[in-house]
Amino acid sequence: MAAPTFMHCLLAICLLSCAAHAQLSADFYADCCPSLESIVRTEMIKAISRERRIAAKLLRVFFHDCFVQGCDGSVLLDAPGEKTAIPNNNSLLGYEVIDTIKASVEAACPGVVSCADILALTARDGTFLLGGPSWSVPLGRRDSRGGNQSLANDNLPAPDSNLTVLIELFGRQGLSPAEMTTLSGAHTIGFSQCLNFRDRIYNDANISPSFAALRRQTCPRVGGNTTLAPIDVQTPGAFDTDYYQNLLTRRGLFRSDQALFNGGSQDALVRQYSFNPALFRRDFAAAMIKMGNICPLTGDDGEIRANCHVANS
Ligand code: HEM
Ligand SMILES: *[C@@H]1O[C@H](CO)[C@@H](O)[C@H](O)[C@H]1NC(C)=O
Ligand SMILES: *[C@@H]1O[C@H](CO)[C@@H](O)[C@H](O)[C@H]1NC(C)=O
Ligand SMILES: *[C@@H]1O[C@H](CO)[C@@H](O)[C@H](O)[C@H]1NC(C)=O
Ligand SMILES: *[C@@H]1O[C@H](CO)[C@@H](O)[C@H](O)[C@H]1NC(C)=O
Repeated sequence: MAAPTFMHCLLAICLLSCAAHAQLSADFYADCCPSLESIVRTEMIKAISRERRIAAKLLRVFFHDCFVQGCDGSVLLDAPGEKTAIPNNNSLLGYEVIDTIKASVEAACPGVVSCADILALTARDGTFLLGGPSWSVPLGRRDSRGGNQSLANDNLPAPDSNLTVLIELFGRQGLSPAEMTTLSGAHTIGFSQCLNFRDRIYNDANISPSFAALRRQTCPRVGGNTTLAPIDVQTPGAFDTDYYQNLLTRRGLFRSDQALFNGGSQDALVRQYSFNPALFRRDFAAAMIKMGNICPLTGDDGEIRANCHVANS
């Protein structure tokens, strides 16, 4: 595992520290903030009881953080920055819950826990609290002092990305085609705006006609851009394997979803996940840890932001 991460960080021209000593560990805060994980868990339980979708929102924020300069909290910095990049603007949500959790964590352990680590823990807790797998989160990430909007536009996949592009974009992050298929299973929870799947439900051939008709009811050809639909047509609030079952019956909401089961290299894995939840859960946990290890800032690099929205002055 060390070798590909090393290579990948050099290729991505991350800070040299990534290659030199990017070692995260689950007990990083054991001495300086032993209550961290229970604080995050308690706050996530509260947040989810207010709005179940918060788990989905924050899982996606973590993904969009990690794919741009590594998991360094860069996505949390206010504009001008990654928040207004095309895949994020008016689409990435849930930042206010990170603020609430950061405030609780600062009250218990001032100045030691990064925003990047808090985000990583919320992604794990949200997944688990919606019925998904759990994993031990390697910690010790530090926060970047800046973001990169153009890199966010370049590195994040679009809902009409084809399989070749998806494999390329995940490959840039050191993630395999199989890991891409596994991580896409996050679409078993959460919602999408109409503008992200309109072309597919009106124009594509590889879509279930009844599913397309259902989605057209609330996503007209013109207007309704921001109207939401569940990505998993059955249970957008439960972390299960319906996502893969839907792909088998051409009920993928995005082109990028259906691309995983469309006669290509990922068909076999999609089929396996559709009838083997244990396999999906195990692989998802492992892939989340790997995604969370993308080029973290460690040691003396970066900083512990006092406010997740702005770099320290
Ligand atoms: C494979 C390429 C991917 C593409 C093209 C993609 C694209 C999208 C799009 C367009 C949305 C809807 C956004 C909106 O309407 O505002 C969405 C939602 C979501 N994505 Fe992805 N995504 C991908 C992979 C992932 C991965 C790897 C994760 C996490 C591990 C993830 C987690 C989510 C979640 C949880 C939601 C629902 C968010 C909510 O309800 O607010 N996605 N994705
Ligand atoms: C982001 O969305 C707002 C509307 O909410 C818009 O005014 C702004 O131009 C968008 N920013 C970018 C960079 O596209
Ligand atoms: C942002 O990323 C682009 C690649 O998209 C790169 O050329 C540029 O140097 C980066 N800017 C900063 C400030 O890191
Ligand atoms: C995938 O999309 C890219 C970018 O739009 C395009 O250049 C390429 O030809 C497409 N590949 C296939 C196999 O459709
Ligand atoms: C709706 O979304 C489409 C596709 O992104 C865009 O071309 C159009 O301008 C949007 N319409 C409105 C009213 O925002």
